[in-house]
Amino acid sequence: MNNFQSPFQLQGKTILVTGASSGLGQAIAVECARAGATLVLTGRNLPRLQAVHASLSGCMHRYIVADLTDASQRNALVDEVGSVNGIVHSAGVDGVAPLRMVSDKLLQQVMGTNFHVPILLNQRMLYRKQILDSGSIVFVASIAALTGKVGVGPYSASKSALLGAMRCLALEVAKHGIRVNALCPGIVDTPLFDNHRAWLTDVVAKTYPLGLGRPEDVAYAAIYFLCDASRKVTGTSFSLDGGIPYT
Ligand SMILES: NC(=O)c1ccc[n+]([C@@H]2O[C@H](COP(=O)([O-])OP(=O)(O)OC[C@H]3O[C@@H](n4cnc5c(N)ncnc54)[C@H](OP(=O)(O)O)[C@@H]3O)[C@@H](O)[C@H]2O)c1
Repeated sequence: MNNFQSPFQLQGKTILVTGASSGLGQAIAVECARAGATLVLTGRNLPRLQAVHASLSGCMHRYIVADLTDASQRNALVDEVGSVNGIVHSAGVDGVAPLRMVSDKLLQQVMGTNFHVPILLNQRMLYRKQILDSGSIVFVASIAALTGKVGVGPYSASKSALLGAMRCLALEVAKHGIRVNALCPGIVDTPLFDNHRAWLTDVVAKTYPLGLGRPEDVAYAAIYFLCDASRKVTGTSFSLDGGIPYT
């Protein structure tokens, strides 16, 4: 009898996915369920969250509606979610403006959602020991954290801040065997680009040697960082950039 159990699967693991109602978070939830995980999905949009929940393979999955920028809703989520083996922080917003034109409101919104939310959610769950030993934290950052592009300053800054915090957190939680890594996708066609679809397909797609990414490409990388195959990998930012030159 062959008792080999692949380390590239998530059987027996409970994974919290933020931003699970759309785009990358949705694909990450779907593929993690296929890999055997039990999912806790969170997002703001109830009908979309329910639709994702209904599409998952396996059973025992849950969903919790929360606006994560609201501290009381975020804390209620932590109360409800219980203990997890992994978190994928995919909730995020874009936020583009030339820095000469940036407003306090835009900066607060972008930094609030893309940086403060994942850091404070981790903080509360770690403080309450709700991320189990040998667990895995995955931030969805962006290649915008590693590159400069005109007009993308607020978004790039929020994702760069995440990488800085990720490297420190990786050291702080290593004593519990908890790993912390970040995915840096290039552009993937998701509802984030609903207002820029023509630009995406006519202009941007041509600059990617391997073509634009698909949501499931990011999900496969997330599975690697959540599963036991990556148990000695921490503090890493992993580019999924389709080979695009960084200049
Ligand atoms: N698409 C790309 O090309 C790309 C590339 C690199 C990195 N990323 C990053 O990947 C992540 C997901 O992006 P996406 O393309 O999947 O975008 P998306 O389709 O617009 O999804 C964004 C998700 O974030 C959730 N969200 C936003 N603000 C929230 C808040 N205040 N509280 C709770 N949930 C909130 C949304 O929830 P509701 O819809 O329920 O409101 C939605 O589920 C983001 O962090 C983004 O920066 C995307």
